Amino acid sequence: MMEGGDRFKKAFVIGWPISHSLSPILHGYWLSKMNLSGIYEAVPVAPGEISNFFNSAIEKGYVGGNVTIPHKEGVFAIVDEKDEVSKAIGAVNTVWFEDNRLMATNTDATGFISNLDDCAPKWRSGTTALILGAGGASRAVICGILAAGYQTAHIINRTEERAKELVDRFGEKCFAHTWDAFELLAPDADLLVNTTSIGMTGNAETSLPSLDKLPKHCIVSDIVYTPLKTKLLTEAWKRDLQTVDGIGMLLHQAAPGFEKWFGVLPKVDKGLREHVLAAMEQKGNSK
Ligand code: ATR
Repeated sequence: MMEGGDRFKKAFVIGWPISHSLSPILHGYWLSKMNLSGIYEAVPVAPGEISNFFNSAIEKGYVGGNVTIPHKEGVFAIVDEKDEVSKAIGAVNTVWFEDNRLMATNTDATGFISNLDDCAPKWRSGTTALILGAGGASRAVICGILAAGYQTAHIINRTEERAKELVDRFGEKCFAHTWDAFELLAPDADLLVNTTSIGMTGNAETSLPSLDKLPKHCIVSDIVYTPLKTKLLTEAWKRDLQTVDGIGMLLHQAAPGFEKWFGVLPKVDKGLREHVLAAMEQKGNSK
């Protein structure tokens, strides 16, 4: 049913593979909750097929959509216009059409920050973060915390060279380390974020360093959400540290895109979180 004379709008999430994506579930929740006229669908797009997909996207009725693994960098390279945030991160996750031009942004940084603001607002009184990992997710997290005023980001990565590349990208507030520096840096951490796939279901468990040297006020966040209670979060919780799980970032990064395509800024609330967690349970990937 059309509402208020609005035309029916179609949005997508493209990736390869894409069947595991929770995005159709969360956007579908908002569409039905607000009784909006539209659909959000998962479209498998193979590597090498990105240009073909976008060449026919307007014709197929799409107003825009999300871009996920492995296309975030590839789409970054072909859009007509991208904003400063996506340039800083070097990847896009949200696109839309404006006068037949393909526009792009990256909402992962604001998604990460909004989730911390929501779940652990005291994080803003800190100045020093330890970031585990130096991939695309790490770039989004660093971009977000520096924009929020953090003074120091220690990037800890298995491959030091990749951490150094991020220091070159983000500048003098960032420092590159390997894992053996963790315990030395831990006492200064106001925020610890895991952006690696360590702890993700299906990955061989790499041992984590001890969290014993983290100060009592340190907030520990994991962007992995399968499982929701990662080993890192469990270890932090055992030490009475405040923890922030990864599902909230997924929910928060989705809201600005939804507003672009469907015209209403949706709320990230308990109902949405429970709906998405139930879907995860059903898909069998919450363990
Ligand atoms: P994303 O874009 O999701 O961040 P990515 O670019 O592939 O993914 O980055 C994955 C990150 O997880 C990297 O920091 C990687 O470390 P390397 O740069 O040394 O490869 C890290 N990572 C993945 N598996 C790991 C493991 N078993 N132990 C330590 N670090 C790991």
